[in-house]
Amino acid sequence: MKPIADLRSYLEFLESKDMLRRVSVEASPILEIPEILRRIMYRGSGYAVLFEKVKGHEGFRIAGNIFCSLDVVRQALGVERLEVIGERLFEPLKGPPPLGIGGKLRSLGEVLSLGKYMPKAVGRAGFTANVLEGREASFNLIPAFKVWPKDGGRYLTYALVHVRDPVRGVMNMGVYRVMIAGDKEGVVHWQIHKRGMQAQQDSVEKGERRIPAALVIGSDPGTLLTGAMPVPYPIDKHLFAGVVRGEGLPVYRLPNGIHVPANAEIVLEGYIDLEDLREEGPYGDHFGYYDKPSRLFPTFRLERVWHREEPIYYGSVTGKPPLEDVVIGKFAERIFLPAIQTLLPEVVDIDLPPHGVFQGMAFVSIRKRYPGHGKKALLALMGLGQLSLTKIIVVVDHDINVHDVNQVIWAVSSHVDPQRDVLVVPHSHTDELDPATPTPMYGSKLGIDATRKLPEEYGGKQWPEEVAPDPETVRLVEGRWGEYGLD
Ligand SMILES: Cc1cc2nc3c(=O)[nH]c(=O)nc-3n(C[C@H](O)[C@H](O)[C@H](O)COP(=O)(O)O)c2cc1C
Repeated sequence: MKPIADLRSYLEFLESKDMLRRVSVEASPILEIPEILRRIMYRGSGYAVLFEKVKGHEGFRIAGNIFCSLDVVRQALGVERLEVIGERLFEPLKGPPPLGIGGKLRSLGEVLSLGKYMPKAVGRAGFTANVLEGREASFNLIPAFKVWPKDGGRYLTYALVHVRDPVRGVMNMGVYRVMIAGDKEGVVHWQIHKRGMQAQQDSVEKGERRIPAALVIGSDPGTLLTGAMPVPYPIDKHLFAGVVRGEGLPVYRLPNGIHVPANAEIVLEGYIDLEDLREEGPYGDHFGYYDKPSRLFPTFRLERVWHREEPIYYGSVTGKPPLEDVVIGKFAERIFLPAIQTLLPEVVDIDLPPHGVFQGMAFVSIRKRYPGHGKKALLALMGLGQLSLTKIIVVVDHDINVHDVNQVIWAVSSHVDPQRDVLVVPHSHTDELDPATPTPMYGSKLGIDATRKLPEEYGGKQWPEEVAPDPETVRLVEGRWGEYGLD
């Protein structure tokens, strides 16, 4: 299946699945549209919305809640299971190495197939239809949301922030909120643990004062999702977008040298001014609290606005879960499972519960093999990529379904002796948004080993035997069920 070409084709796809509604009356991006989008998601079965008439922004349309359902995202990406996306990278490396010449050629083919995910430079892009420079290039054109009443301003809430890595030259493309601070200035809220911030620190170390950048709005679903994915540094994020899409991403080179998705709706070209650091926020974030960072963030200076005809702006809204970001978090959970399993083969499955807000809580099942294995897994997970930002991790045995919170609660309740099985790591890093810690980015972690204990962990005794019904009685009851007149 060819990947969905762009945002507008994705909206058509959603409409064909009856997952898109159009609003033809005028609506405002300031508070009104975010309120509508939240209402829809809080009802339980959300859908996407295309606002065809945007107050104050003639000619622009707005799409929202485009990641309203994980199953629709899966269908749009043309895979039976989302894990297949992660397997594209890791499966060719698993299995015994081929010894014969035929097998070697076959496996070479598999490794070379990775080439089809590479970005492809193209000389044409729809957004070159309109280029605004000089006085005409202004953030005021963009129908950015004000998401919550006390937000510090209007925000680009789903811009793919592009900067090239100053050390290896790979492309960074992260979803970081951008607060509009003036006609030509935005404040980029890349958090300390993210690749954008790493690029900032490395650039400053190299003596750079500014780095070329682009803010990209609206693209195909695979590329948009990639922006919010914790792709390990230094894997190029355009390359990873190709892995998600199932085919390389066409990219267009802007005059400032930054390559951007050629299928973008809107591109804001400019640079990050590393010397102009500013206050950012408050912003009503994923936890449902106003986040007011105490540190300063760099300024994006706008030089050129590019957009397609009748451009479609896409913005996400945040607030208490479950909103669209929960689906994005679940997408990450599924596609990175194969990567986690490659590094930690004991991991069977993982669940990031929606109300745990990605970094709040994770349930992980493992195939336990030795005493202390539960804690070993906890320690490894607490140090692994962005999963390491998780505040509370519960590890259970492989037979516990981590997607059933009641099974996890049963395991915690019946397998945990707190003084033996609870691990508190004090004075550690934590998610920069975590409202619970007085010092931003610095807090503690809780690990709960809810696996059944081996004799070495259980005072030398055997773990109690679990109840199981007598098979003959089960057969008898099944056979006679109708006779009892119960249902
Ligand atoms: C709607 C939405 C808004 C986000 N806003 C921010 C943000 O303001 N700052 C940030 O550092 N991460 C934010 N994230 C999370 C990052 O996109 C995510 O951590 C991603 O991995 C960042 O890319 P990177 O790993 O290449 O740095 C947001 C995610 C979503 C879905």
